[in-house]
Amino acid sequence: MIWLIGNKGMLGTELSLLFAERGLDFVGTDREIDITDPAALEAFANGKDAEGKRIYWIVNCAGYTAVNKAEEDAETCRRLNVDGPGNIAVLAYKLRTRFIHISTDYVFGTYNKQASSETGEKQPYLEDDDTGPIGVYATSKRDGEVRVMENTPGAYVIRTAWLYGKYGNNFVTTMLRLMRERDTISVVNDQRGSPTWAHDLADAVFKIIDAVEHPIGLASPRNVPFGIYHYTNDGDTTWFDFARAIYQKGRELGLLTKDCEVKPCSSAEYPSKVMRPDYSVLDKSRIRNEINILIPKWEESLEQFLKELKK
Ligand SMILES: NC(=O)c1ccc[n+]([C@@H]2O[C@H](COP(=O)([O-])OP(=O)(O)OC[C@H]3O[C@@H](n4cnc5c(N)ncnc54)[C@H](OP(=O)(O)O)[C@@H]3O)[C@@H](O)[C@H]2O)c1
Repeated sequence: MIWLIGNKGMLGTELSLLFAERGLDFVGTDREIDITDPAALEAFANGKDAEGKRIYWIVNCAGYTAVNKAEEDAETCRRLNVDGPGNIAVLAYKLRTRFIHISTDYVFGTYNKQASSETGEKQPYLEDDDTGPIGVYATSKRDGEVRVMENTPGAYVIRTAWLYGKYGNNFVTTMLRLMRERDTISVVNDQRGSPTWAHDLADAVFKIIDAVEHPIGLASPRNVPFGIYHYTNDGDTTWFDFARAIYQKGRELGLLTKDCEVKPCSSAEYPSKVMRPDYSVLDKSRIRNEINILIPKWEESLEQFLKELKK
């Protein structure tokens, strides 16, 4: 069976629904089995074994995700994002299970690659590019990745970005609320990334598990190699253009019923406790090649998500 850790969070809830829909045998836990407590993790896993249900995959969606708050709460953040995944990795190795851990584009900070010499355009990050996290949250996620890889050879680390969905606070739901409340909003226009619908990421997690469990034909000629993978929706944008798309689609679908002007601003005009990456677009060739996945464009997924909200 699959052990889904953090099953009540935004991504965890999407995964619970998707595993149930696709008939996978899984069990979910959240805060009640504290990932910072190795004994609690082990007792839970052994309890399942005693029921004759061997755990053969662990998926970890739990973590400390409050990026600004982390600056004043570094110890808790590191316990959750570094020690927690490390504890799970140690257990995964002991139980010989496969382990999927979720990480972030924030492991890349200020753009540190060479722009294309022909066009001068910035290039998406590859999985093995140098990291350079800024701030407590980003550093904890990078160190968590390292802790996972050091402690179990059977790990897949999936870096994602700009996640939104139905079951948690996120940029899209915040924008919709502000657009209903205000006549004008300003959104930063100097950070580029790729919005990602949690539902699509959940599908990618499922596809990794499925490709490993059922390697078939040319689509999956060999086992999926362990290591780091990037997954976001396809394409990239700025927060401002993302907000404009939310507004336009929200109006078209009748989710927004009044005008709101969306204005661009710079990060300097929108002071925050933590500097966000100015460019954190992730290259997804590896996941495409290894599991033959079709990645939806961010605009299409946003539309689909807003239609779901409308239902
Ligand atoms: N959200 C994004 O934009 C984004 C972007 C890139 C990567 N990611 C990564 O994606 C993953 C999932 O993100 P998400 O937004 O779905 O997170 P989330 O909604 O914050 O869910 C995390 C879950 O972990 C639970 N949790 C907290 N402390 C725990 C503990 N000690 N033991 C067990 N569970 C605990 C939380 O419970 P409480 O709610 O009660 O605290 C929550 O249910 C995270 O690793 C995150 O770093 C997120």
